[in-house]
Amino acid sequence: MALRIERVKFKDFRSYERLELGGLGALTVFVGPNAVGKSNIVEGVQMITAHTSFRHATIDQMIRKGAAASCLEARAGDENRSLDFKVTLSAHSKKYELNGKPKRPADLRGLVPSVTFTPDDLELVKGSMSTRRAALDALGSQINANYHTIRRDYEKVLRHKNALLKEEASPLLIASIDEMVITCGAQLSCYRSALFARLRPHFESNYGSIAGGREALAVHYVPSWANFDPDHPETHEFTRDEARVAIERALEERRAEERARRRCLVGPHLDTIHFAVDGMDATHFASQGQQRSIVLSCKLAEAAVIEEVLGQKPVLLLDDVMSELDGARREALVDYVSEEVQTFVTTANLAYFDAAMLARADIVELCGETMGSPARLLHESR
Ligand SMILES: Nc1ncnc2c1ncn2[C@@H]1O[C@H](COP(=O)(O)OP(=O)(O)OP(=O)(O)O)[C@@H](O)[C@H]1O
Ligand SMILES: [Mg+2]
Repeated sequence: MALRIERVKFKDFRSYERLELGGLGALTVFVGPNAVGKSNIVEGVQMITAHTSFRHATIDQMIRKGAAASCLEARAGDENRSLDFKVTLSAHSKKYELNGKPKRPADLRGLVPSVTFTPDDLELVKGSMSTRRAALDALGSQINANYHTIRRDYEKVLRHKNALLKEEASPLLIASIDEMVITCGAQLSCYRSALFARLRPHFESNYGSIAGGREALAVHYVPSWANFDPDHPETHEFTRDEARVAIERALEERRAEERARRRCLVGPHLDTIHFAVDGMDATHFASQGQQRSIVLSCKLAEAAVIEEVLGQKPVLLLDDVMSELDGARREALVDYVSEEVQTFVTTANLAYFDAAMLARADIVELCGETMGSPARLLHESR
């Protein structure tokens, strides 16, 4: 049985001086006008569960203007246990506690996983490859602490190598950092390809259901050393040793070019992920509706992978997405949002929700009276 979030408390987070929510059930809908603080709630719950912000915010941006620190708390429980999570944000530092004891984020990751879906996620299709890599890495980091560590290590190595290339450091020094590019790069590529292999079947079949079987989506992960041929898309599978050899070879081939351009041109920071609908590259050809279907398929696939790996369904955080989806896609989402999946949804307008969904939801009206449901807004001040 999955842990459920029962209470949430924010202090000096974003627009909230204090916010307390209690009696949270399976489905909570936050409704209120623009700028009332709906997305701030989604971001806060995402910080507590997935330790990241969909806005890519710095700590300073999240602390309420004029305050020195933010404190985010949540209680989650099932029939056997009750866990108190606390995240404290202060001048460039994040501290985590579980049941009053300091913890490393790695110890907490995956306890209450979450999948966040916001209008910005449409960037997954239209935006740059780095958005797709980041989405894959965020999923990997949530379900596997080693994935998180290796990605962080690789980013450090990459920054270091780029700095050396900028200052035209000696070839010996660059060769020594290349050793680390190979080791961390091969490891990260392997994590990515294994995760993508899990995600892919769900991703493609979700799209098939949402499109009513009329169109097919094909998704591919291509490691940095391989070329992608859209006419003959290939799935790449490799061992860590094969990845090491491939990265090493690519480094040799492009050493002179890296020095000339003073930039690191080899490694998983250049991996690519491709989406095609009926053989047409989605980045250039997908309609708005198809783009939305791809993103929705991806989000539901993420949820399925989390459940497969961690054995529990993630909390679903849906920020203002109902208005972006048409009837069929909304239905696919509502089908997933069953009693077993704890879901927080924000909206400026309840008209986007069907009556059956609203009937079982706790509706929290921000900046106003709470409608008589078990989810209670215990305190709100801004
Ligand atoms: N660090 C901060 N300190 C104080 N206020 C902040 C901080 N960060 C954001 N805000 C305020 O929070 C408000 C935005 O909140 P939020 O994005 O949650 O609104 P929303 O209800 O989701 O609105 P919309 O319906 O337009 O998406 C803005 O008025 C913004 O100024
Ligand atoms: Mg918003």
